[in-house]
Amino acid sequence: MSKTIIISNRLPLQIKLEDNEINVSPSVGGLATGMKSVHEEGDSLWIGWSGLAEEDLNDETREKVQKEIEKNKCAMVPLTENEVDHFYYGFSNKTLWPLFHYFMEYTTFENENWECYKEVNKKFADVVLEHAEDGDTIWVHDYQLLLLPGYIKEKKPDTSIGFFLHIPFPSFEVFRTFPWREEVLRGMLGSDLIGFHTYDYERHFLSSARRLLHLDTNFNEISYDDRIIKIDSFPMGIDFKKFYNAALNHENEELEKSDIQKRLDEHLHSSDDCKLILSIDRLDYTKGIPNRIKAFEYFLEKYPEYQQKVRLVMLAVPSRSNVPQYQLLKRETDELVGRINGKFSTVSWTPIWYFYRSLPFENLIDLYTSCDVAMITPVRDGMNLVAKEYVATRVHQDGVLVLSEMAGAAKEMNEALLINPNNFEGIAQTLKQALEMPKEEQKTRISLMQERLERYSVEKWAEEFFTALNSTKQVRNTLVSK
Ligand code: ADP
Ligand code: F6P
Repeated sequence: MSKTIIISNRLPLQIKLEDNEINVSPSVGGLATGMKSVHEEGDSLWIGWSGLAEEDLNDETREKVQKEIEKNKCAMVPLTENEVDHFYYGFSNKTLWPLFHYFMEYTTFENENWECYKEVNKKFADVVLEHAEDGDTIWVHDYQLLLLPGYIKEKKPDTSIGFFLHIPFPSFEVFRTFPWREEVLRGMLGSDLIGFHTYDYERHFLSSARRLLHLDTNFNEISYDDRIIKIDSFPMGIDFKKFYNAALNHENEELEKSDIQKRLDEHLHSSDDCKLILSIDRLDYTKGIPNRIKAFEYFLEKYPEYQQKVRLVMLAVPSRSNVPQYQLLKRETDELVGRINGKFSTVSWTPIWYFYRSLPFENLIDLYTSCDVAMITPVRDGMNLVAKEYVATRVHQDGVLVLSEMAGAAKEMNEALLINPNNFEGIAQTLKQALEMPKEEQKTRISLMQERLERYSVEKWAEEFFTALNSTKQVRNTLVSK
């Protein structure tokens, strides 16, 4: 029977080593959380990296990791420390990530990293080819594997290959500064279908293919290498039911309390009528964390009546901490939180509760359900699933989503209060509007967004992607039989 092979740099499970024992937790990030539901439901194999360097493992731990990975219907691409350094931290996260998010001043162009990126993409191709059988469908994910579709197509031209980019595709003016632009485009064009979160990213890709490779495009199709490649947008959804039901059950269950939950309880039982504003993200410079903190400071100054009446609960998950820009951001965030708490705190009130850690799913639900407003302010974000998850957990149809226009999610969430993350005046006014929004209006906005999220769930997203990929297969078969 044919299967789907999902390939991404990171597997849906994160494996850590502690005293020769392995510790397994779910991976954080939109790709892993979204695709996890698709993987669990279908007949699929997920190929990716365990998160550990080969040198960290001995025979015993390698076997344990292997078993855990197989138990989860996954297969591993082993990476050495050198590859983690040059492929993952280097080319993926010091070149592609900042460039595609328009952080050109953070982007480095190192030939050594590029060479390693190619080698690791080839390594992924070898593992895929080991597992791929005739009739299988291959679905490659994200910017760490832009060359992989080309390598697979070269060896197995009849295989159906889909590629989805989870981050923005930058405009031509930015993309053309990239030294390896043609190779990367050709690698992506090894696919039969290329998907993006939004129409804008799709448009940017088509424009780069036209202008850099001089390819013919017809509406959303590209002729390349005697093949027609389809380019389309598929805004990724969430597992709506999982979040909605978890929020419902959460109300009825006595869960073991985390320190965050204890703080929330303390808050709920205290006599102050403080409202909670939530933000959750990986600690990443694209997420607009300093902007958010500074805008919150501006809000407290502009509307002093809100001091002691509102609190920002900020959860940041450690991410890519070997990259200097992430270390700088951590320092900046610590300093900003410290400065603002020092400036405004009273004996009974701290304006910002800041947590720097990953959390189990139940505790995320605690946060989503306990906060009156979610304030999500990326300066650039492919989609942003946190915004969607917050809305999905509001089972009483209350709560307000304040969302940056720069997130892909803003294109589908018109009922959110949209802000420009660089406009502190605008954010402060919007925050006030959110905190004062009548319950009826909250209900109208949340229920409209929930209906849409339920209809266009992650299952539907995957289904539409597969349908489009299958239709490219049919077109190919018709062309061959002619
Ligand atoms: P990105 O893919 O850039 O990290 P998204 O907002 O699209 O951003 O996805 C983040 C995902 O990671 C969400 O599904 C969210 O539930 C999950 N997540 C975020 N913070 C945490 C955390 N502290 N603990 C566990 N999961 C988290
Ligand atoms: O969605 C963007 C993304 O880079 C995913 O590819 C990745 O799973 C997630 O963010 C987390 O990043 P990392 O795998 O580098 O921890």
